[in-house]
Amino acid sequence: MSQLLRHHAEQVFAQEIEELIAQDTHQRPQNWKMSPWAVVTYLVGGKLQNGFAVTPKYIGQRRLMEIAVSTLTTDRALLLYGVPGTAKSIVSEHLAAAICGDSTRLIQGTAGTSEEQIRYGWNYALLLSQGPSDAALVPSPLMNAMRDGAICRIEELTRIPADVQDTLITVLSEKTMPVAELNSEVQAVRGFSVIATANNRDKGVNELSSALKRRFNTVILPVPASEDEEVRIVVQRVTEMGRALELPAEVPALKEIRRVVQIFRELRNGHTEDGRSKVKTPSGTLSSAEAISVLTNGMSLAAHFGDGELRADDIASAMIGTIVQDPVQDAVVFGEYLDTIVKERSGWADLYRALRERV
Ligand SMILES: Nc1ncnc2c1ncn2[C@@H]1O[C@H](COP(=O)(O)OP(=O)(O)OP(=O)(O)O)[C@@H](O)[C@H]1O
Ligand SMILES: [Mg+2]
Repeated sequence: MSQLLRHHAEQVFAQEIEELIAQDTHQRPQNWKMSPWAVVTYLVGGKLQNGFAVTPKYIGQRRLMEIAVSTLTTDRALLLYGVPGTAKSIVSEHLAAAICGDSTRLIQGTAGTSEEQIRYGWNYALLLSQGPSDAALVPSPLMNAMRDGAICRIEELTRIPADVQDTLITVLSEKTMPVAELNSEVQAVRGFSVIATANNRDKGVNELSSALKRRFNTVILPVPASEDEEVRIVVQRVTEMGRALELPAEVPALKEIRRVVQIFRELRNGHTEDGRSKVKTPSGTLSSAEAISVLTNGMSLAAHFGDGELRADDIASAMIGTIVQDPVQDAVVFGEYLDTIVKERSGWADLYRALRERV
């Protein structure tokens, strides 16, 4: 198992899930592994009665997670919506892991997603030799989730063409999936629900049809409210990644992480953290996820080609590629930010120099 590049949430946090189930005294919806209270505790972290510490997976408002989890106890599906890198996918994975112990019933939405991928397909060899039969039917993750009373995840719902999205309407409102070829149906077992994610920055995406919108409760995941919150998110993830990738580098000093987060926030928000100066925003996405990858890349550079300690030079190399996506416009915008803001900051001379050399 340790050969795997990445493990599912329910594998990584198996012990926490087990402990939460053992300590859970709240009421559990049918076919849920734990109570809504325990699911929220799993997501935002906390201490259990016996002193066991549950790590936070989502850093942000607890209330948002309560709304998300309570939606799943009703007959409505959950849509996690927001700008890129706001933890929609990981929240969806963790929710599925905690509620039904399995986050792998997953449909990746793309422009090419077909109705068969959402409903069911056929094993054509069997179909041709025997005609339609239960054995020849190839169920989709959605159909499996309905049968098992589990959660099906749909990533990037709005990339799926609108007419294909509509396949979900009967499933979500009548909780059944007709199989016309077999003159039968699959009725959803209690515990079944859908968690979809969608981001609002994709160009050329399809809108959610209004019929479908009514069947989803939307929870908007915001970008981290404060610099401190974002630093916590980045520190946690960078530490995890360093461990997972077995990087021989030290986890970067808090000061370095803070600088990277601050630069990303200022460019994204269009003003400096103290609110005194306006800043132009480059074209690329500059979410916490990008800050995380800049630091992980920097750590890798430092580990393999430096002395293991992350320096301004390592950060700068990783940062330029992320911030300057349009070689002309973004370079001008970022150059201006460097000369007017970064240059003036005391203690930032090393970073200024390293970045300026590369723009
Ligand atoms: N509030 C948060 N709490 C914990 N981790 C966060 C938070 N926001 C961002 N992250 C981190 O950001 C990274 C990106 O998260 P994720 O892939 O779930 O984003 P997403 O919203 O699905 O983005 P996209 O729209 O690009 O699919 C994850 O590694 C996660 O650790
Ligand atoms: Mg995602």
